[in-house]
Amino acid sequence: MKLLQKVQNLVLPLPVTLATCRANKNDLSTDNIIPLSWVGIVDYKPNMLYVSIGKGKYSAKIIKQNKEFGLCIASVDIMEQIDKCGYSHGDKVDKFKMTGFIKFPAEKINVSLIKECPICLECKVTETMELNTHEIFIAEVLSTHVDEKFLGDDEEPLISKMNILCYVNDQYWTMGKKLKDLYYSK
Ligand SMILES: Cc1cc2nc3c(=O)[nH]c(=O)nc-3n(C[C@H](O)[C@H](O)[C@H](O)COP(=O)(O)O)c2cc1C
Repeated sequence: MKLLQKVQNLVLPLPVTLATCRANKNDLSTDNIIPLSWVGIVDYKPNMLYVSIGKGKYSAKIIKQNKEFGLCIASVDIMEQIDKCGYSHGDKVDKFKMTGFIKFPAEKINVSLIKECPICLECKVTETMELNTHEIFIAEVLSTHVDEKFLGDDEEPLISKMNILCYVNDQYWTMGKKLKDLYYSK
């Protein structure tokens, strides 16, 4: 087996998320959005996740400075806006204006969250780790927002209705269909 060049694209699928941050906590016009797929859960007592952002990116600087960010899970319906956010830069354009995304305020941190996303998480950075090209932000999830239209009677998310967007090897994919519940074979 030869070592493929783009090993980073061989862990798949990944979610497509939109991290939000605000340069100046008193100024909503400094809100920014960065699409991220290198994200994941790392603990649940307390609830912790990580995001990995290219060193020197505008959003990495803001998150390093303010130690907080929103993490919104993307649906297929907003793919085009997400794609545009992925090659534009918050120090040059207002990505909320560019996309027309509707903001709603986070409760525990100074960022805006995105109404069009089925799930938004409020995250407080507890640790950062510098690697060669990327900086990892490990964060505690302080609050969660799930659009009520995606919650069933039992308060569990209705995944099939969310139409979640995935990242696979420099392509966008949908998630496909549910097969079975976890550990069904026990
Ligand atoms: C679907 C998708 C996933 C992405 N995932 C990441 C990621 O995990 N880490 C990263 O540093 N950049 C990622 N990018 C690229 C950034 O979104 C891009 O560099 C963006 O323009 C940076 O915004 P900023 O300059 O406002 O900080 C991704 C882009 C797209 C479209």
